[in-house]
Amino acid sequence: MSDKPVNAQDTLALVARTDFPADFVWGCSTSSFQIEGAAAIDGRTPSIWDQFCQQPGKIRDSSDATVACDHYHRWPEDLDLASQFGMNAYRFSIAWPRIFPDASGVPNRLGLDFYSRLVDGMLERGLTPWATLYHWDLPQYLQDAGGWENRATVDAYLHYVDVVTRHLGDRIKHWITHNEPWCTAMHGNWDGMHAPGKQDFKAALQVSHHVMLSHGLAVPVIRANVPAAKVGIALSLHPLRAASDSAADLLAMQRHDGLRNRWFLDPLFGRGYPADVLAHCADYLPQITASEVDLIATPLDFLGVNYYFPETIAAAPDNPPLHTSLKEVAGRERTGFGWEVAPDGMRELLQRIAQDYPAIPIYLTENGSSYEDQVEADGSVQDTARRDYFIRHLHALQQARQQGVDVRGYFAWSLMDNFEWAEGYLRRFGMVYIDFATQQRTVKQSGHWFRNFLHQNVVSPLDMT
Ligand code: FCB
Repeated sequence: MSDKPVNAQDTLALVARTDFPADFVWGCSTSSFQIEGAAAIDGRTPSIWDQFCQQPGKIRDSSDATVACDHYHRWPEDLDLASQFGMNAYRFSIAWPRIFPDASGVPNRLGLDFYSRLVDGMLERGLTPWATLYHWDLPQYLQDAGGWENRATVDAYLHYVDVVTRHLGDRIKHWITHNEPWCTAMHGNWDGMHAPGKQDFKAALQVSHHVMLSHGLAVPVIRANVPAAKVGIALSLHPLRAASDSAADLLAMQRHDGLRNRWFLDPLFGRGYPADVLAHCADYLPQITASEVDLIATPLDFLGVNYYFPETIAAAPDNPPLHTSLKEVAGRERTGFGWEVAPDGMRELLQRIAQDYPAIPIYLTENGSSYEDQVEADGSVQDTARRDYFIRHLHALQQARQQGVDVRGYFAWSLMDNFEWAEGYLRRFGMVYIDFATQQRTVKQSGHWFRNFLHQNVVSPLDMT
């Protein structure tokens, strides 16, 4: 590595694969609902997201994921791309409604067979499968019975986890119980931006508790079914800044941190739910027993961290229940989605986790950016901003490692453009461009860079432009 001082420009030149250990995990992340399509094929029934997409005004471009990237049929080509990039791992999720299309509790052989083929395809290409068991596509029939608010959904989840891990555990060793419980609970049930679209804070806290409980109960099920399993959870975590150094804004930041970060981290690491959140949200709390809290703390093999952006928090006395608000700070660098670009935030977040929750190996299970990509006349996609986003975040990751944080892998979000939830197809996050009319795949500049980085140890982006 260069010993030149680091400034914004030099940062671009300061990352090389050899800066990371040889056994570092390099992958990309996807999720079933966002890419698979084949919504009614081989017995799959609707998830809450299929239902949500049918409701006017919920998806910005009024689209749905009936076809999405048609990955259900095109997965060999997609896995080829991931392996051609030089990745050694691939994170995907399993669609619960493919495995249990109805409430009978009888698994659908065709659904299990699809994932069996997919996993074999990964192994044939040298990609270690990392499976997420729940990435938001709850079967609609379970939502009709109360969804995650209903304790019975925890039991249904455990049955699903048991069947899937028995069936695939001979080949999948890395299991992620849930993706971003904060989004499941809060976007799904508090602000209503995501399926099932409720706006009820009490319901959201009930959901969060059931999701975390289902996580804790699933860990021993996975371990019992999968020899040498590595089990973790992927949380969306945010470094926070106070809008000012006034006492009110600092308190607001602490309160926001309580619900955004500590509400999930603390119980996982045996500290129970944070006392400040319990006190502040007393009117909205679900029934929480001490034994349930103990169950959530079943020891993990790793923590998955999904990092996208920091948040700036201000006091907002008129905004119950937290009395905080997010502040858009002018002049900050942002992605096409408007998310703040802050590689330093990643380093800061990782250091904080290592300090507050020691001794847990960390994997960056998602990190990426969306921009308004276009195919040029020569057929290329010049997503230089995304390429630089990757370079700068990998540099920050490497700095965190040098400072002693035990980060063992990085998964880019995402392999290819896909259905970005409430934003439909308006937000492109992929290293591969998808023409959704023709399903043609085109590797973007960022994908070429990643391939060169992983294959040839390219240090500077200038080497490939
Ligand atoms: C995360 C989700 C993932 C994707 C990215 C952009 O919150 O886990 O599915 O939508 O954001």
